[in-house]
Amino acid sequence: MRILVTGGAGYIGSVVTEFLMAGAHDVVVVDDLSTGHRGAIGKGVSFREGTLLDERFLLPALDGIDAVCHFAAFSQVAESVADPIAYYRNNIGGAVSLLAAMRKTGVKFFLFSSSAAVYGEPDETPIREDAPLRPLNAYGNTKLAIERLLADCSAAWGLKALSLRYFNAAGAGESHGEDHRPETHLIPLVLDVALARRDELVVYGNDYPTRDGTCVRDYIHVKDLASAHLLGLEKLIDGYGGVLNLGNGRGFTVLEVIRAAEKVTGLEIPYRFGERRQGDPAVLVASSDKAEKDLGWKRFYPGIEEILRDAYTWKQARPDGYPA
Ligand code: UFG
Repeated sequence: MRILVTGGAGYIGSVVTEFLMAGAHDVVVVDDLSTGHRGAIGKGVSFREGTLLDERFLLPALDGIDAVCHFAAFSQVAESVADPIAYYRNNIGGAVSLLAAMRKTGVKFFLFSSSAAVYGEPDETPIREDAPLRPLNAYGNTKLAIERLLADCSAAWGLKALSLRYFNAAGAGESHGEDHRPETHLIPLVLDVALARRDELVVYGNDYPTRDGTCVRDYIHVKDLASAHLLGLEKLIDGYGGVLNLGNGRGFTVLEVIRAAEKVTGLEIPYRFGERRQGDPAVLVASSDKAEKDLGWKRFYPGIEEILRDAYTWKQARPDGYPA
């Protein structure tokens, strides 16, 4: 298939592109490089630099495309709380423009990069897809709005859409990994501290109702996420749609991640407790039973240590991320 990957120069998009190429698909990456990296575009991948908000740019990019994987979005929770307009403009505006262009060009299949952030603080864990949707931050609101837009387009003009709600993506692919600037995600920051590239980690809050007072997250290997996309695409073409959680079903506190990273790296990771970060739910752990059942999805790298090991290998190979 010929797949358009928006945000293919970003973290998850680049690893999924790696998998699509290995699966003998033809990939066209569209990215405005606002947060992605030119160096993340792999060999053999067609690249079109530009914004989704520009229809004249998008229409020719959709020529001959069978399906779209839509990753391009701003994705930092705290930033979204501070600047919601930027998030609504970029995330919702980009999706609206992309769907309008798909409608015009007759491209019908849409795989959407959604998020556990749509749930907010869950009543029970592990979280199933039918749990209440109450995002705690603007980022989660934009992801939920797009999911609803997809349902509306499916009803109106036969769009076939599958939304994948990722929990905390971590680890690295064979040649692609995490490089956010500035970095705000726990695992790359913990590894920076281990490598003495930062003095200490600030743990955001130790008064949450969890086993050690720090937030619990479900870390899922980005390669396991990527394999779910390949399965999801096949199913989508067969007429499958809706929403699926993608996680490991097991939660780790921030302190447990620090300890596991100390074990994997053999290095000390100094930390101190700071204030809570706005928009952070206490616990996010997925039930991925539906993805397992409906896609036949299996996780090959479920352990926190193997996730950390791959993230560490990537960090050692590219301490400063992709070259400019
Ligand atoms: N954390 C710290 N100190 C830091 C960075 C993070 O204590 O310096 C804590 C956070 O408070 C949180 C946990 O580590 O409890 C994980 O934080 P991340 O920033 O790595 O990830 P988030 O859980 O905030 O968000 C990520 C993605 C979102 C997605 C969400 C789904 O960035 O896009 O996972 O679970 F919505």
